[in-house]
Amino acid sequence: KWTSERAIEIIAQHQDQKGATLPILHALQEVFGCVPLEAEPLIADALNITRAEVHGCVTFYHDYRREPPGRRVLKICLAESCQAAGVRALEKRAKEKLGVEMGGTTADARVTLEPVYCLGLCHSSPAAMLDKDVYAGLDEERLDELLKEAQA
Ligand code: FES
Repeated sequence: KWTSERAIEIIAQHQDQKGATLPILHALQEVFGCVPLEAEPLIADALNITRAEVHGCVTFYHDYRREPPGRRVLKICLAESCQAAGVRALEKRAKEKLGVEMGGTTADARVTLEPVYCLGLCHSSPAAMLDKDVYAGLDEERLDELLKEAQA
């Protein structure tokens, strides 16, 4: 659970590193499952940079979450090769079936849907990732299986 005391400790562990912002964001997300807005001023103070700089960094990288994720995280690859292979239709289907937008978590907190930008499986696009497992060559049927598994 998020506490600013714990966040300050984590920030202190990384703040002397070169280019500390990303390692700090990474460590916070590791521990809390997300990088809440409240973390930004703490990071800015520790690194002596502006809040806008920290905020820019959090929003530039697609990897950081604002809120803790659902029990499972389904990431759909929206990069070029997967787009060319028709992933947008699968994205639409996943959003409809889960009832969330990209970045959203289902009301029962079971599944968070997120975009990812290339999983290194372009030779068999479209690709997705459920937690740590990757799936390639997706079609509607395989996506539905994945959605079912994610919601189980
Ligand atoms: Fe989707 Fe590379 S573009 S796996």
